[in-house]
Amino acid sequence: MSAALPNQVHSDSRATDSRDAGDFQNNDARERLIVALDVSTAAAAQKIVAAVGDSALTYKVGMQLYTAEGPQLVRDLVASGRRVFLDLKYHDIPTTVAAAAHEAARLGVSMLTVHAAGGGKMLRAATDAARAVHPALLVLGVTVLTSLDQNELEKIGFSGTVPDEVLRLAALALDNGCKGIVTSARETAAVRSKLGRNFAVVTPGVRPAGASHADQARVATPAEAIAAGATHIVVGRPITEAADPAAAARAILEQISS
Ligand code: C5P
Repeated sequence: MSAALPNQVHSDSRATDSRDAGDFQNNDARERLIVALDVSTAAAAQKIVAAVGDSALTYKVGMQLYTAEGPQLVRDLVASGRRVFLDLKYHDIPTTVAAAAHEAARLGVSMLTVHAAGGGKMLRAATDAARAVHPALLVLGVTVLTSLDQNELEKIGFSGTVPDEVLRLAALALDNGCKGIVTSARETAAVRSKLGRNFAVVTPGVRPAGASHADQARVATPAEAIAAGATHIVVGRPITEAADPAAAARAILEQISS
């Protein structure tokens, strides 16, 4: 893949380490946009990355693409100057998750996910292992999947409301070394008011104003997600399936530029 993927050209003079999760407090809206590569081949991923060009810095590789193409795709993205958010949502015994986080850090990813429900020991093992290889790696605790409603939560043994469970799991993740969480825009404002501002909040389920919702039920616009307190938004199909992915990404950047 690296042969066909042009290197990222950064339009600013700031030195950029592609493994660093970036400074999302600064004014470059690109620090906040993550493009989800939900495809099943390296060729399809490469096509999207080339089409987006300089309009995005960070790409999410999830379980579909990682299962299909494996770590080489991640290495190639990192080698081309892109940042990678490895979204494999690790959830296993602490030793196993620590070993996986260690390997992810060695691949050069900038961000990775662990399920906060894996417990404090697992979260601490993951964050320690990632940090030992790459201190700036942003380990994110996944709170409550947006696909789970109150009824489903009760069936898996969570007795609180969705917002309560999000807050509890977010606090657990942050207490155990995670520097950020993944949660929907709906819970973000409460998380900010209860837990502060000193951590990343990554929000999926984002749809540009006026766009198709596809299969997303609980959506927010990019501006709503950022206003609620998200530091990063994850956008997939509105960019990857657009006739002009770079233009679609630029339109989203416009919506979140302050
Ligand atoms: O819907 P879209 O194509 O923008 O999805 C982008 C990413 O957001 C997906 O990779 C998925 O992991 C995540 N997502 C999510 N919760 C949802 C919908 C999507 O976490 N409800």
